[in-house]
Amino acid sequence: MARLPIVTLPDPVLRQVSAAIERVDPDLLKLADDMLETMYAAPGIGLAAIQVGVPRRLLVLDVAGDDEPRQPMTFINPEIVSLGSEKRVYEEGCLSIPDVRVEIERPAALTVRYTDRDGVRRELTADGLLATAIQHEMDHLDGRLIIDFLSRLKRDIVVRKFKKVARG
Ligand code: NI
Repeated sequence: MARLPIVTLPDPVLRQVSAAIERVDPDLLKLADDMLETMYAAPGIGLAAIQVGVPRRLLVLDVAGDDEPRQPMTFINPEIVSLGSEKRVYEEGCLSIPDVRVEIERPAALTVRYTDRDGVRRELTADGLLATAIQHEMDHLDGRLIIDFLSRLKRDIVVRKFKKVARG
């Protein structure tokens, strides 16, 4: 496994819409493993392929607590089947936007359909942190970021700050 560089704001790659994955092959599984290693090292609880510069509909997650065994999850071509009506607010961070946290209200539960590492189409119903993390990572697949939930003024301030840092 290898640790990959994480793409950060304001890199326009983050705004790209990721393409569907045609087949699950060893190269794809290696990418998923590398993404998991990158996520654990960061450390983070989720990572989408676009965040390592690969515009494919792949994401990895592990929402296990610090004192729990690892529970790595890989989602290929995930699709929302249904969203719960109840909402929940979490303060979300993003490995592509270091040190920024945004309070976001999202559906508290969902059912997602995805392809697993064996190429099998599955469904998962989730709530709590996992439901939030899945929605956050799926946003990445469509080029959407947590700063999009801010007012335009606040978003511009964040983007300006990251542009300044990128210029050195
Ligand atoms: Ni993120």
